[in-house]
Amino acid sequence: MTRGKFITLEGVDGAGKSTHLEFVADWLRRQGREVVVTREPGGTPLGEALRELLLHRDMDADTELLLMFAARQQHLAELIRPALARGAWVVSDRFTDASYAYQCGGRGIDAERIAALEAWVQRGFAPDLTLLFDVPPDVAEARRSAARTADRFEREADSFFSRVRNAYLERARAEPARIRVLDARHSIAELQIEIGHLLEGLG
Ligand code: TYD
Repeated sequence: MTRGKFITLEGVDGAGKSTHLEFVADWLRRQGREVVVTREPGGTPLGEALRELLLHRDMDADTELLLMFAARQQHLAELIRPALARGAWVVSDRFTDASYAYQCGGRGIDAERIAALEAWVQRGFAPDLTLLFDVPPDVAEARRSAARTADRFEREADSFFSRVRNAYLERARAEPARIRVLDARHSIAELQIEIGHLLEGLG
């Protein structure tokens, strides 16, 4: 059985990535793939319990980072690795690029700390394709304020999201083959055409 592929969607809050998650999953299902859709933080019962804490309880920035990776370890062990091993494709709303963007870019934690946790938890494992939905800060801010309730991250200042965006773009520059930047100001229809091309390229 060939191993499935792992696709992640990333972007600042308000970039609109969640809209495209089901499109990616449906596109893959139309190719006859078994698809598992999941998210971070979360994706397992324990991970979802950690997500509640992460999104709503005040905590130290390092605690936040460690809990993100605790949830990720459980996610990999319980869901992602077994699904890929049986040949399913896994589509995740966020993964480790978000830790570099939010905890390093946003909160200012050293990238080496994140890299150490990444090496521990992932042991070389990485997504096959990452779709980065990029929008200018004012567009993301308008979309965030239209949303009903804000969690701990969504209540952050505009400067926080500018740093998060820049950290995402820096990662995309460092890994251009894996991280594909999409201009999320484009219409949903235009973006879906672009996403389809990128998925075709995965084989
Ligand atoms: P998000 O995926 O945007 O969910 P929703 O669309 O329901 O708001 O929310 C998850 C939040 O968690 C988001 O603000 C980014 C944050 N996050 C991190 O800070 N670090 C991480 O490693 C991950 C996976 C998420």
